[in-house]
Amino acid sequence: METGSIADKSADWVRIFDTTLRDGEQSPGCTMNVEEKIAIARQLGRLNVDVIEAGFAASSPGDFESVRRVAEAADGPIVLSLSRTREEDVDAALRAVVKAPRPGIHIFIATSDIHLRYKLNMTREDVLDAATWAVTRAKKQLDYIEFSCEDASRSDWDFMVKVCTEVIRAGATTINLPDTTGHAIPEEFGRMFSYMREHVPGAERVIWSAHCHNDLGLAVANSLAAVKNGARQIECTINGIGERAGNCSMEEVVMALKTRHDLMGVQSRINTRQIYPASRLLSQVIGQPVPANKPIVGDNAFAHEAGIHQDGVLKYKLTYEIMKPEDIGIPSNKLVLGKHSGRHAFVERLKTLGIDTSAVDVNAAFAEFKALCDKKKVVYDDDILALVTEEARRTVENFELIDLHVASSSKTMAHAKVTMRVAGADRSQEADGDGMVDACYKAIYRITGINPTLERYAVKAITGGTDALGEVSCLVRDDGMTVGGAGAHSDIVMASALALVNALNRLKTRTQQPLKPTTDVR
Ligand code: KIV
Ligand code: ZN
Repeated sequence: METGSIADKSADWVRIFDTTLRDGEQSPGCTMNVEEKIAIARQLGRLNVDVIEAGFAASSPGDFESVRRVAEAADGPIVLSLSRTREEDVDAALRAVVKAPRPGIHIFIATSDIHLRYKLNMTREDVLDAATWAVTRAKKQLDYIEFSCEDASRSDWDFMVKVCTEVIRAGATTINLPDTTGHAIPEEFGRMFSYMREHVPGAERVIWSAHCHNDLGLAVANSLAAVKNGARQIECTINGIGERAGNCSMEEVVMALKTRHDLMGVQSRINTRQIYPASRLLSQVIGQPVPANKPIVGDNAFAHEAGIHQDGVLKYKLTYEIMKPEDIGIPSNKLVLGKHSGRHAFVERLKTLGIDTSAVDVNAAFAEFKALCDKKKVVYDDDILALVTEEARRTVENFELIDLHVASSSKTMAHAKVTMRVAGADRSQEADGDGMVDACYKAIYRITGINPTLERYAVKAITGGTDALGEVSCLVRDDGMTVGGAGAHSDIVMASALALVNALNRLKTRTQQPLKPTTDVR
């Protein structure tokens, strides 16, 4: 066994298992295409996560391809695919990760009576057999096997003892106990880990893992309780995205372990300076802004408004700050480059912002940056991040925005004329609307022939000043599918148009892929 490998018990640390690309992607509007998943996986590598759950290979050909490509691209972390206990799932998962330098599989089946009776229609014996069979089959091909008792927090502990005993015998190397429905309270969740570790023969040979959902806002607290009771892996997502109220948030749990090391006594190996770039990158990719009050990475996480607080922080930072913003990778000086900066400085800056410069058209981004410098006196880090991800968005376009002309006055209806490139041909349409954005959106719907429901539309000024880049994010729904889009521009109508075009491109990409079958995954 290599020293410091995931199963190495000589070193005591909390493994970080990132499921942004699987459980995270299951939340509405968070779908990502393969290139975007690879960009996120590279950032996960820079964060130094231990395990990447790249997807659920058997769920669709698109998912299989994403897992396969992420497995090939990731050169540090273990990469695995989720799998039910069915033969076709296990085989697809194994094929998808075969080229990963460090491959793994994550097999799960529900163990709670409520799931057995109403969802699986299986007896406890059936579940025990299916779990043991699947782990035995996978073990013939690879060593790293995680097994999950889905809905563990509502399962009978003694039945889970039986299941875990058998799957460990069959070769499982990690046992995950999820709080699938976000129902647990820290004290009881912690006790479950103690009980399992005490009663399962061979418990000391495996890593115990916690996977918590945030329905009661307790995912981080429950994960920490599990660690206090012997868990040495936490499953989480960037920005806490995931089914319903989301999963345990990586940035929160990692910084809790670091900041309260005095109490926890054990830490992760995450390079915390990559947390902020990861959060911003994901937000740009899925087109969903990070709420200002989000712990660790929200815009207000280190903002002090009250006079007494400001006074205290100015005298001595630690009076009101328990973490240093620079430890999270938040640029201490947001003013970065200007009109006289060269390409080299620009590229270096991209790297420190967590951008994979081999994955973006740096020349095009630099040209856009220079154009922005001509328009704005100061260019901030967030402006640059927005520019680059805007550039990345364009590389996966089916629809391209060519021109936009809007007119509005207080006495007449707003009018928009939009020109777009669709399948190599330029098409224009005009429309009136209730405001410029409405007119522009109607013209875009006419050109693309897609008429989705606009479920959410939000505008955010990335930086101060009326010439700041504005970022628009939107969520559109069509034919049962919800996707997000984002766009940034110094003209807010233009940013709105870019956001919608980005969302429609994602919708188009998704509808070109066969739909996922309904699964019992949470
Ligand atoms: O929430 C859950 O139980 C899951 C399992 C598939 C691990 O996501
Ligand atoms: Zn889950």
